[in-house]
Amino acid sequence: MIKNSIFGIVQNDLTALEAELLSVIHSPVHLITEISEHLVQAGGKRLRPALYFLCARCGVDHNSPVSIQPLATAIELIHMATLVHDDVIDNSPTRRGIPTANSKWGNQMSVLIGDFLFAKAFSIVASSHVSERVMQVLTEIICSMSEGEIIQNKDTFNPNQSEMEYLDRIAKKTADFIAASCELGALTAKLSDQDVQALREYGYSIGMAFQITDDILDITASTEQLGKPAGNDLLQGIVTLPVLYALQHSPDAAELTRIVSTRGMGQDMLQRGLEIIHATDAVDYSYRLVNEYLNRARQVLPEGMPSEIKEAFLAVAEFVEMRNF
Ligand code: IPE
Ligand code: IPE
Ligand code: MG
Ligand code: MG
Repeated sequence: MIKNSIFGIVQNDLTALEAELLSVIHSPVHLITEISEHLVQAGGKRLRPALYFLCARCGVDHNSPVSIQPLATAIELIHMATLVHDDVIDNSPTRRGIPTANSKWGNQMSVLIGDFLFAKAFSIVASSHVSERVMQVLTEIICSMSEGEIIQNKDTFNPNQSEMEYLDRIAKKTADFIAASCELGALTAKLSDQDVQALREYGYSIGMAFQITDDILDITASTEQLGKPAGNDLLQGIVTLPVLYALQHSPDAAELTRIVSTRGMGQDMLQRGLEIIHATDAVDYSYRLVNEYLNRARQVLPEGMPSEIKEAFLAVAEFVEMRNF
């Protein structure tokens, strides 16, 4: 989880979420409970439900009997489901510092568990009388994410991509979800249309910056730091912003093009690819873009929010910029 100080004001909500997650994943089929517990107990940043809670707390007071929990639970279950499927697609052995479901129980079981978690999310939402708009926002998350992942999958090992194409696909696979988490919180808080839109835009910009830093960390951080394998994007043929920049600016672009196009590359080739990227200012360039998105996030925050909530929103922006996991 992200440092308590950032999400201090929604800490009680986040603590309740942990208990709720562990409770809703119980199934008479023991294996489902076992795998789901493995996933919940691995933790994770809980960024999406935390942003949802922050937005919801702009309007719903802490003593209100209105339950804001079900949507938070649905949001994290959807996130968990997508990660389980993503780890199958990316053939990833670890996440959150422990073995992935695919490495422990195999791809077939992981696909099924992902489906179970998606369905569980909607079963919770269906029994909590949400509006049609909320339902639409939730379902669009999954449509967008699937579109993003499909575009990404189609373009693996393809060095001929533009930055625009990259930005479009990370918007779909990541930023739209974080935008929607904020929007759902703002809708729960019954904020004005203008503020709902502003918080959605805040989430979108945070989401763009978050995915770019994820892509930077893949080439700068260690596997221990990340809790998931560093360098896996290049190995899996996922062409990210720093790689695209290096393809356009490196004197060794021809060699990097060959590396990026190689399926099943070994460690030597991966290291050479990373060396070529690091010899350019690809990482600095990518962080400049991160900062543009974060500045946008800071600027669009609605006026007149409770000051402790505004500070938390600003702290999230800072976390995204400084994070090393
Ligand atoms: C991972 O999301 C997928 C991306 C969009 C980069 P997180 O980095 O929020 O994953 P957890 O929940 O903390 O493991
Ligand atoms: C995010 O992208 C995955 C989803 C939105 C499902 P990544 O593939 O970069 O996420 P990690 O690096 O596996 O966490
Ligand atoms: Mg992945
Ligand atoms: Mg990644």
